[in-house]
Amino acid sequence: MARKLIKYNLMIPGPTPIPTRVLSAMNHDMIGHRGPLFSAVMKEVMESLRWAYETKNDVFVYPSSGTGGMEVAVVNMFSPGDKVIVLNIGAFGGRFVKICKAYGLDVNDVKFERGKAADPEVLKAELKKGPVKAVLMQHNETSTGVLNDVKTLAKVVRDNQPEALIIVDAVSGLMAAPLKTDEWDLDVVVSGSQKAFMTPPGIAAVAISARAWKANAVSKCPKHYWDLALMKEEAPKGHTYTTPPESLIFGLREGLRMLKEEGRENVFARHAANRDLVRAAARGLGLKLLADDSHASPAVTALFPPEGIDAEEVRKLMRDDFGVELAPGQADLKGKIFRIGHLGYVEALDIIGAFAALEVLFKRLGVKTNFGAGVKAAMELL
Ligand SMILES: Cc1ncc(COP(=O)(O)O)c(C=O)c1O
Repeated sequence: MARKLIKYNLMIPGPTPIPTRVLSAMNHDMIGHRGPLFSAVMKEVMESLRWAYETKNDVFVYPSSGTGGMEVAVVNMFSPGDKVIVLNIGAFGGRFVKICKAYGLDVNDVKFERGKAADPEVLKAELKKGPVKAVLMQHNETSTGVLNDVKTLAKVVRDNQPEALIIVDAVSGLMAAPLKTDEWDLDVVVSGSQKAFMTPPGIAAVAISARAWKANAVSKCPKHYWDLALMKEEAPKGHTYTTPPESLIFGLREGLRMLKEEGRENVFARHAANRDLVRAAARGLGLKLLADDSHASPAVTALFPPEGIDAEEVRKLMRDDFGVELAPGQADLKGKIFRIGHLGYVEALDIIGAFAALEVLFKRLGVKTNFGAGVKAAMELL
C-alpha cells in the first residue's frame, strides 16, 4: 500500500497557496461594517488596490468570485443590442462572450487559435468594420497560459475608435504581469482575490475610468447587486453597499501589504522567473508547451503530457502519489493538457519539487525521458 501523504502542494492557477501572514490576518473578530474601524481597513484596501492597478480611478470590491467582476463590467457599461468585440483566446474569453450574450449584446466573438495571443492586426481589421461600444479581452488567459499584449491592443483601440471602452479581465494577470490601468487608458479592469493577491477566493475588484462612468450613466442592462452606482455612494465612506466579506478583506489587506513590501518590480520578476523555470524544466523533460515563449504567461503554464499518456491520469497520479495538485485542461483543451500554476505565494523550490515528482511519475509509467533532465535544467537556470 502506498504511504499516506501528509502535505498537500497546491500548484493550480487559483486558488493559490495562502501565506501564514494572510491566514493569521483573517483570524480577526468581526467588526461593524458601517463604523470607523472597518472604514479604515476598507480605505487602505482600496488605496492599495489602486497601487496594484496603477490607477487613480475608483476601485470597488465585491463579495464575489472573478466571474462576478466580469458581470459587473458588462451590466454596468452596456444596454441590450450594443455592439462589442470580444478577443477570445481561451475559456475565459468564451466566458465574456457568454455573459455579453446573456444580457442581449451584439457580440463579435473574435476567436484565436488556442495557445496564441490576440493579434493586434486582426483587432485593427475588426475595428475598421464599424463602430463598437467596447472591446473586451483577457490580460492573462488562464486556460491556455497566454499573456495578451494589452498595451498594444489598447493602443489599437484608441487609434481606431478612441471612444470605445476597453474592458480587461485581469483576474489571473494582475500583479503577476505589468498592467498599467491609467497609462494604457483602460476603462474597466477586473481582478480576483485568489490569484496573485495570495488571498482566498471570494473578492472581485473592479476599476472604473471616467469614460466608464459615462457609459454607466446610460447603461440599461438590468442590475441591482452589481450596480456600480450603489457602490459609488458608499465608497468614499470606506463602506460597501452590501455586507462585506470581512475576513477576506482583512486577508486581502495583508496580501496587499506583502506585495507592497516586496515591491512591484520584484513581484513581476518573481513571476517571470517562475515562468522561465517551468519552461526550462518542461523542455528538459521533453514536454511540449502550448504557448510560445513570446507570449508565455508568468502565472500559469499549459503542458501536453508525453505521447500515449492521459493528461487526467497525470493529474490523478501527481495528487495520489505526491500530493501535488495540478490543473486540468478547460473547454476545447479538456483531457489534452494539464496546467501548472506558478502565481502568488510560489517560489522556485515549489516548482522544482513538482517537476521532480513529474519525472518520477513518468519513469514509473515507462515513459522514455532523460531522467533528471527537467530538474537539472531548472537548477542550471537558478
Ligand atoms: C482569467 C480569468 N478570468 C476569470 C476567471 C473567473 O474567476 P472565478 O472562477 O473566480 O469566477 C478566472 C478564474 O480562474 C480567470 O483565470
